[in-house]
Amino acid sequence: MNIITQTADGSNTLYNETIGEHYHSKHGALQESKHVFIEAGLKFASSDRKEVSVLEVGFGTGLNFILSMEYCEKNAIQLTYTSIEAFPLDLATIQQTGYAAYVPIDIWESFNTYYNEALKQPQQITAHSRLEIPHTTLAAYHTEHKFDVLYYDAFSVQHQPEMWTDEIISHACSFLKPGGTFVTYAITGKLKRAVKANGFTIEKLPGAPGKREMLRAIKEL
Ligand SMILES: C[S@@+](CC[C@H](N)C(=O)[O-])C[C@H]1O[C@@H](n2cnc3c(N)ncnc32)[C@H](O)[C@@H]1O
Repeated sequence: MNIITQTADGSNTLYNETIGEHYHSKHGALQESKHVFIEAGLKFASSDRKEVSVLEVGFGTGLNFILSMEYCEKNAIQLTYTSIEAFPLDLATIQQTGYAAYVPIDIWESFNTYYNEALKQPQQITAHSRLEIPHTTLAAYHTEHKFDVLYYDAFSVQHQPEMWTDEIISHACSFLKPGGTFVTYAITGKLKRAVKANGFTIEKLPGAPGKREMLRAIKEL
Protein backbone atom coordinates (compact mmCIF):
# COMPACT_ATOMS: atom_id res chain seq x y z
CA MET A 1 0.00 0.00 0.00
CA ASN A 2 1.33 3.45 -0.94
CA ILE A 3 0.29 6.62 0.87
CA ILE A 4 0.72 10.13 -0.56
CA THR A 5 2.69 12.39 1.79
CA GLN A 6 3.94 15.95 1.46
CA THR A 7 7.69 16.67 1.66
CA ALA A 8 9.42 19.79 3.02
CA ASP A 9 9.54 21.63 -0.33
CA GLY A 10 5.77 21.23 -0.75
CA SER A 11 6.02 18.48 -3.37
CA ASN A 12 4.48 15.08 -2.66
CA THR A 13 5.98 11.64 -2.47
CA LEU A 14 4.64 8.17 -1.76
CA TYR A 15 5.26 6.18 1.41
CA ASN A 16 5.57 2.47 0.72
CA GLU A 17 4.18 0.67 3.77
CA THR A 18 5.66 -2.71 2.87
CA ILE A 19 9.23 -1.40 2.55
CA GLY A 20 8.73 1.28 5.24
CA GLU A 21 10.28 3.97 3.05
CA HIS A 22 9.40 7.07 1.01
CA TYR A 23 9.98 7.15 -2.78
CA HIS A 24 11.89 10.44 -2.42
CA SER A 25 13.63 12.54 0.23
CA LYS A 26 11.32 13.81 3.00
CA HIS A 27 13.30 17.07 2.74
CA GLY A 28 11.90 17.68 -0.75
CA ALA A 29 11.00 15.23 -3.50
CA LEU A 30 11.20 17.74 -6.35
CA GLN A 31 14.39 19.33 -5.02
CA GLU A 32 16.11 15.97 -4.70
CA SER A 33 15.12 14.84 -8.16
CA LYS A 34 16.36 18.08 -9.75
CA HIS A 35 19.57 18.27 -7.72
CA VAL A 36 20.76 14.67 -7.92
CA PHE A 37 19.46 13.34 -11.21
CA ILE A 38 18.89 16.37 -13.47
CA GLU A 39 21.65 18.77 -12.40
CA ALA A 40 24.41 16.35 -11.29
CA GLY A 41 23.47 13.61 -13.77
CA LEU A 42 21.67 14.54 -16.96
CA LYS A 43 22.84 18.14 -17.35
CA PHE A 44 26.43 17.20 -16.55
CA ALA A 45 26.48 14.26 -18.97
CA SER A 46 24.66 15.92 -21.87
CA SER A 47 26.32 19.36 -21.87
CA ASP A 48 28.15 18.71 -25.14
CA ARG A 49 25.76 16.35 -26.91
CA LYS A 50 22.48 16.27 -28.77
CA GLU A 51 21.43 12.77 -27.72
CA VAL A 52 21.61 10.95 -24.42
CA SER A 53 20.60 7.55 -23.12
CA VAL A 54 19.57 7.19 -19.48
CA LEU A 55 19.20 3.99 -17.49
CA GLU A 56 17.29 4.39 -14.23
CA VAL A 57 16.96 1.86 -11.44
CA GLY A 58 13.48 2.34 -9.98
CA PHE A 59 10.96 4.20 -12.19
CA GLY A 60 8.49 4.66 -9.31
CA THR A 61 6.30 7.71 -9.91
CA GLY A 62 8.21 8.81 -13.01
CA LEU A 63 9.28 12.15 -11.47
CA ASN A 64 12.88 11.76 -12.66
CA PHE A 65 11.60 10.85 -16.09
CA ILE A 66 9.26 13.81 -16.63
CA LEU A 67 11.93 16.26 -15.44
CA SER A 68 14.47 14.62 -17.77
CA MET A 69 12.01 14.82 -20.62
CA GLU A 70 11.39 18.50 -19.92
CA TYR A 71 15.13 19.23 -19.84
CA CYS A 72 15.74 17.40 -23.12
CA GLU A 73 12.76 18.97 -24.89
CA LYS A 74 13.96 22.45 -23.86
CA ASN A 75 17.50 21.77 -25.03
CA ALA A 76 16.64 19.83 -28.20
CA ILE A 77 18.38 16.68 -26.93
CA GLN A 78 17.17 13.26 -28.07
CA LEU A 79 16.38 11.27 -24.92
CA THR A 80 16.28 7.48 -24.75
CA TYR A 81 15.11 6.59 -21.25
CA THR A 82 15.05 3.03 -19.90
CA SER A 83 13.90 2.56 -16.33
CA ILE A 84 13.88 -0.80 -14.59
CA GLU A 85 10.92 -1.24 -12.26
CA ALA A 86 10.08 -4.40 -10.32
CA PHE A 87 6.78 -3.14 -8.87
CA PRO A 88 5.14 -0.66 -11.27
CA LEU A 89 2.62 1.77 -9.82
CA ASP A 90 -0.75 2.07 -11.46
CA LEU A 91 -1.38 5.23 -13.45
CA ALA A 92 -4.11 6.42 -11.05
CA THR A 93 -1.59 6.45 -8.18
CA ILE A 94 0.95 8.36 -10.28
CA GLN A 95 -1.73 10.92 -11.15
CA GLN A 96 -2.39 11.56 -7.44
CA THR A 97 1.18 12.80 -6.88
CA GLY A 98 0.41 16.25 -8.26
CA TYR A 99 3.54 16.15 -10.44
CA ALA A 100 1.48 17.49 -13.34
CA ALA A 101 2.23 20.91 -11.82
CA TYR A 102 6.00 20.60 -12.39
CA VAL A 103 6.18 20.13 -16.16
CA PRO A 104 4.40 21.63 -19.18
CA ILE A 105 0.99 20.05 -19.73
CA ASP A 106 1.94 18.44 -23.06
CA ILE A 107 4.80 16.54 -21.37
CA TRP A 108 2.52 15.36 -18.57
CA GLU A 109 -0.18 14.26 -21.01
CA SER A 110 2.25 12.42 -23.29
CA PHE A 111 3.68 10.58 -20.30
CA ASN A 112 0.18 9.60 -19.10
CA THR A 113 -0.82 8.42 -22.58
CA TYR A 114 2.19 6.12 -23.03
CA TYR A 115 2.95 4.93 -19.47
CA ASN A 116 1.08 1.59 -19.57
CA GLU A 117 2.39 0.73 -23.03
CA ALA A 118 5.97 1.62 -22.01
CA LEU A 119 5.75 -1.16 -19.41
CA LYS A 120 5.34 -3.61 -22.31
CA GLN A 121 7.60 -2.18 -25.02
CA PRO A 122 9.57 0.98 -25.91
CA GLN A 123 7.40 3.98 -26.78
CA GLN A 124 8.26 7.05 -28.84
CA ILE A 125 6.53 9.58 -26.58
CA THR A 126 7.44 12.74 -28.49
CA ALA A 127 9.83 13.61 -31.31
CA HIS A 128 12.59 13.94 -28.68
CA SER A 129 11.75 11.31 -26.07
CA ARG A 130 11.62 7.54 -26.03
CA LEU A 131 10.58 5.59 -22.90
CA GLU A 132 10.85 1.95 -21.94
CA ILE A 133 10.10 0.57 -18.46
CA PRO A 134 11.28 -3.04 -18.29
CA HIS A 135 9.02 -4.68 -15.70
CA THR A 136 11.69 -6.71 -13.94
CA THR A 137 14.17 -6.64 -11.09
CA LEU A 138 17.59 -5.12 -11.60
CA ALA A 139 19.18 -8.51 -10.89
CA ALA A 140 17.20 -10.14 -13.71
CA TYR A 141 17.75 -7.28 -16.19
CA HIS A 142 20.14 -7.87 -19.10
CA THR A 143 20.79 -5.91 -22.27
CA GLU A 144 23.56 -5.50 -24.81
CA HIS A 145 22.87 -1.76 -24.84
CA LYS A 146 25.23 0.60 -22.99
CA PHE A 147 24.00 3.91 -21.53
CA ASP A 148 25.42 7.41 -21.05
CA VAL A 149 23.91 8.01 -17.60
CA LEU A 150 22.78 5.76 -14.76
CA TYR A 151 20.29 7.15 -12.21
CA TYR A 152 20.62 4.79 -9.25
CA ASP A 153 17.38 5.55 -7.40
CA ALA A 154 16.75 2.43 -5.32
CA PHE A 155 15.23 2.51 -1.84
CA SER A 156 17.85 3.10 0.84
CA VAL A 157 20.32 0.52 2.08
CA GLN A 158 18.52 0.45 5.46
CA HIS A 159 15.28 -0.65 3.80
CA GLN A 160 16.48 -2.59 0.77
CA PRO A 161 20.07 -3.77 1.43
CA GLU A 162 19.95 -6.20 -1.50
CA MET A 163 19.98 -3.16 -3.86
CA TRP A 164 23.37 -2.01 -2.50
CA THR A 165 25.51 -5.17 -2.44
CA ASP A 166 28.84 -5.15 -4.31
CA GLU A 167 27.39 -7.68 -6.80
CA ILE A 168 24.28 -5.69 -7.73
CA ILE A 169 26.23 -2.40 -7.95
CA SER A 170 28.70 -4.12 -10.26
CA HIS A 171 25.81 -5.45 -12.38
CA ALA A 172 24.30 -1.94 -12.66
CA CYS A 173 27.69 -0.36 -13.49
CA SER A 174 28.18 -2.85 -16.34
CA PHE A 175 25.42 -1.10 -18.35
CA LEU A 176 27.31 2.21 -18.61
CA LYS A 177 29.49 3.20 -21.56
CA PRO A 178 33.13 4.17 -20.91
CA GLY A 179 32.91 7.85 -19.90
CA GLY A 180 29.35 7.27 -18.62
CA THR A 181 28.01 8.94 -15.49
CA PHE A 182 26.65 7.17 -12.40
CA VAL A 183 24.64 9.30 -9.95
CA THR A 184 22.82 8.50 -6.74
CA TYR A 185 21.51 10.41 -3.73
CA ALA A 186 23.42 8.11 -1.36
CA ILE A 187 27.08 7.96 -0.41
CA THR A 188 28.80 5.50 1.91
CA GLY A 189 32.34 4.15 2.09
CA LYS A 190 31.11 0.75 0.97
CA LEU A 191 29.28 2.19 -2.05
CA LYS A 192 32.30 4.27 -3.09
CA ARG A 193 34.56 1.20 -2.89
CA ALA A 194 32.07 -0.91 -4.87
CA VAL A 195 31.77 1.66 -7.67
CA LYS A 196 35.53 2.33 -7.76
CA ALA A 197 36.20 -1.42 -8.05
CA ASN A 198 34.29 -1.32 -11.36
CA GLY A 199 36.72 1.18 -12.88
CA PHE A 200 35.07 4.47 -11.94
CA THR A 201 36.46 7.79 -10.75
CA ILE A 202 34.52 8.92 -7.69
CA GLU A 203 33.27 12.45 -6.96
CA LYS A 204 31.67 13.57 -3.72
CA LEU A 205 29.19 16.38 -4.43
CA PRO A 206 27.03 18.45 -2.08
CA GLY A 207 23.82 16.52 -1.48
CA ALA A 208 20.26 17.66 -2.06
CA PRO A 209 18.86 19.75 0.82
CA GLY A 210 18.80 17.59 3.97
CA LYS A 211 21.73 15.41 2.84
CA ARG A 212 25.36 16.46 3.20
CA GLU A 213 26.78 14.62 0.20
CA MET A 214 25.87 12.56 -2.85
CA LEU A 215 27.87 10.38 -5.22
CA ARG A 216 28.75 10.94 -8.85
CA ALA A 217 31.16 8.57 -10.56
CA ILE A 218 32.54 8.49 -14.09
CA LYS A 219 33.42 5.23 -15.82
CA GLU A 220 37.02 5.36 -16.96
CA LEU A 221 37.67 5.22 -20.72
C1 LIG B 1 13.25 5.29 -4.40
S1 LIG B 1 12.00 4.59 -5.42
C2 LIG B 1 12.28 5.31 -7.00
C3 LIG B 1 11.68 6.68 -7.18
C4 LIG B 1 11.53 7.06 -8.63
N1 LIG B 1 12.76 7.20 -9.34
C5 LIG B 1 10.64 8.26 -8.79
O1 LIG B 1 11.06 9.26 -9.44
O2 LIG B 1 9.51 8.19 -8.31
C6 LIG B 1 12.64 2.94 -5.67
C7 LIG B 1 11.94 2.16 -6.75
O3 LIG B 1 12.63 0.92 -6.96
C8 LIG B 1 11.68 -0.10 -7.22
N2 LIG B 1 12.30 -1.40 -6.92
C9 LIG B 1 12.29 -2.08 -5.76
N3 LIG B 1 13.01 -3.22 -5.89
C10 LIG B 1 13.49 -3.25 -7.14
C11 LIG B 1 14.31 -4.17 -7.87
N4 LIG B 1 14.78 -5.27 -7.28
N5 LIG B 1 14.60 -3.88 -9.15
C12 LIG B 1 14.12 -2.75 -9.75
N6 LIG B 1 13.34 -1.84 -9.10
C13 LIG B 1 13.04 -2.09 -7.82
C14 LIG B 1 10.53 0.26 -6.31
O4 LIG B 1 9.33 -0.36 -6.70
C15 LIG B 1 10.51 1.78 -6.42
O5 LIG B 1 9.67 2.19 -7.48
